[in-house]
Amino acid sequence: MGIIADRDIRMMKESGRIVRKALNEMKAVIEVGVSTAFIESVGRKVIEDEGAAPSFLGYNGYPAAICVSINDEVVHGIPSRTRKVNDGDLVSIDAGAFKNGFHGDAADTVTVGLPSPLALLLVKTVYEARDIGIETARAGNTIGDVGSVIQKYVEEKGFSVVRSLVGHGIGRKLHEPPQVPNFGRSGRGMKLTDGLALAIEPMINIGGYRVRTLHDNWTVVTADGSLSAHAEHTIIVSTGSPLILTA
Ligand code: MF3
Ligand code: CO
Repeated sequence: MGIIADRDIRMMKESGRIVRKALNEMKAVIEVGVSTAFIESVGRKVIEDEGAAPSFLGYNGYPAAICVSINDEVVHGIPSRTRKVNDGDLVSIDAGAFKNGFHGDAADTVTVGLPSPLALLLVKTVYEARDIGIETARAGNTIGDVGSVIQKYVEEKGFSVVRSLVGHGIGRKLHEPPQVPNFGRSGRGMKLTDGLALAIEPMINIGGYRVRTLHDNWTVVTADGSLSAHAEHTIIVSTGSPLILTA
């Protein structure tokens, strides 16, 4: 369970700061024609120059430091020198950094050039859903409270919430209990407590919620080929608004 002692919060803040810096520097280079491998190299360099290790590199055999997932790719896209960003693409970048014994984990989705209005609405909705989930993640509320507000918000906009991938506790390990689904029923599940570190990360699709994994054994895509967006923050639960470590 990702319970962080008070003396360790500054370590979590440091890992979160590095993840944010990596995301921001990657966003600054995303434009038509850049390869996903180049985007990854920018994020990886930030993490390493800050004296951290990329949390994802080698995790269950994942071969890169960053996940770059475009359009119908939901998460875990493997960077490639031959995959180039095109006009109108939705590009999701996901970064993790490990330093002083603690992980940070966050993701953003950006649009390139002139995306469709529906794609823009999808991206806006995933950030808002994440932030509503974060506001609900306070001591005394439950895991189900968080998932239900996210699901309700996303489905009201006409989009769907991925079921088979969820947020998670985080701390000395990248993935710790509890699982944090982006769907569910209010009042159900574990009660949240002060000091619990969570990665809240809705993945939402224009079409159906079903996904499948490509033959590279990593890239998760929507089953119906529809666009998908992902946004993630690492937070620490408290009695009021959580502390957002990757803002
Ligand atoms: N943010 C993702 C996660 O929490 C990234 C994991 S990619 C992996 O789960 F390579 F590390 F698996
Ligand atoms: Co995560």
